[in-house]
Amino acid sequence: MLSVGEAIRVRRSTRRYTDRPVPDALLAHLLAFAAHTPHLTDRPPRVTVVSGRERVARILARYLGVYGLVQGAPHLLVGLIPEDADQARLDLGYVLEAVVLEATRLGLATCWMTGSYHPERAADEVERRPGEMVAATVALGYAREDPLARLHDGALRRLVGAHRRRPLEEIVFDREWGMPWSPVGADSVLEEVLEGARLAPSAENRQPWRFVVESGPPLALHLFLNRPSPIDAGIVMAHVALAGAEVGWRGRWLLRWQDRTLAEMVGAPRDVIPVGTFMVHD
Ligand SMILES: Cc1cc2nc3c(=O)[nH]c(=O)nc-3n(C[C@H](O)[C@H](O)[C@H](O)COP(=O)(O)O)c2cc1C
Repeated sequence: MLSVGEAIRVRRSTRRYTDRPVPDALLAHLLAFAAHTPHLTDRPPRVTVVSGRERVARILARYLGVYGLVQGAPHLLVGLIPEDADQARLDLGYVLEAVVLEATRLGLATCWMTGSYHPERAADEVERRPGEMVAATVALGYAREDPLARLHDGALRRLVGAHRRRPLEEIVFDREWGMPWSPVGADSVLEEVLEGARLAPSAENRQPWRFVVESGPPLALHLFLNRPSPIDAGIVMAHVALAGAEVGWRGRWLLRWQDRTLAEMVGAPRDVIPVGTFMVHD
């Protein structure tokens, strides 16, 4: 089984799947994992699964053109959030990405889907509790590795610049907004965690996150978004926490959603959204 760090590096959005269903025991493991993995709010999301290629295909829309066309996925993870909870989408990103990485560790392929699916059809297919709504789905199965599938995935990736990532120097600032952080001479453990964050997936690969690092002690990573995409924020927060745990950090996220004092502290512009701080304890 892969380590979390390896899973972060090998995970790709897979849009073509083989016929092979995921064994029930693995599905059960992933759902139990989702129910027990750490979360960020006191009203965590729930993750459930829809199985069967036809049922999944009915939920995944086909009207958005080539981008988003997922073929043959045998399962769909469905993320449910309380309709009236604060930061519910952020928490969903956090929990469901932990599940995505666990699935990757187990050799499974995934693709986050928040645009190209029919939420009302997904809602029909799952058992919802009162006040719950569907907020995201993730295709799940085994990747089709034949040349045609590779061609399809490769062409799609080029089309949307799908796997390119901004360099760390562009998304990480040193103590103050706008002061580029450099890996040269930096703590290699910190660099490894930031690299884990950099590789996180985001909707349309927009990578809306920016970090301001205070080397401390205590070491602190302040997270901001340059667009309001809370699921992406939750995803990158999961990458920091999981990559951090792997390098032996004892730390946790403090949510500071839209807390302007955090923005002012590091001189961030008015249009960025403060999200939170990851504090590392010695
Ligand atoms: C929150 C979220 C929503 C996404 N929604 C879709 C989607 O609706 N359709 C799709 O084809 N890909 C979707 N993706 C996949 C992204 O396009 C992909 O993660 C990004 O391009 C980076 O590529 P990678 O995952 O292969 O590293 C989504 C990803 C995230 C994180």
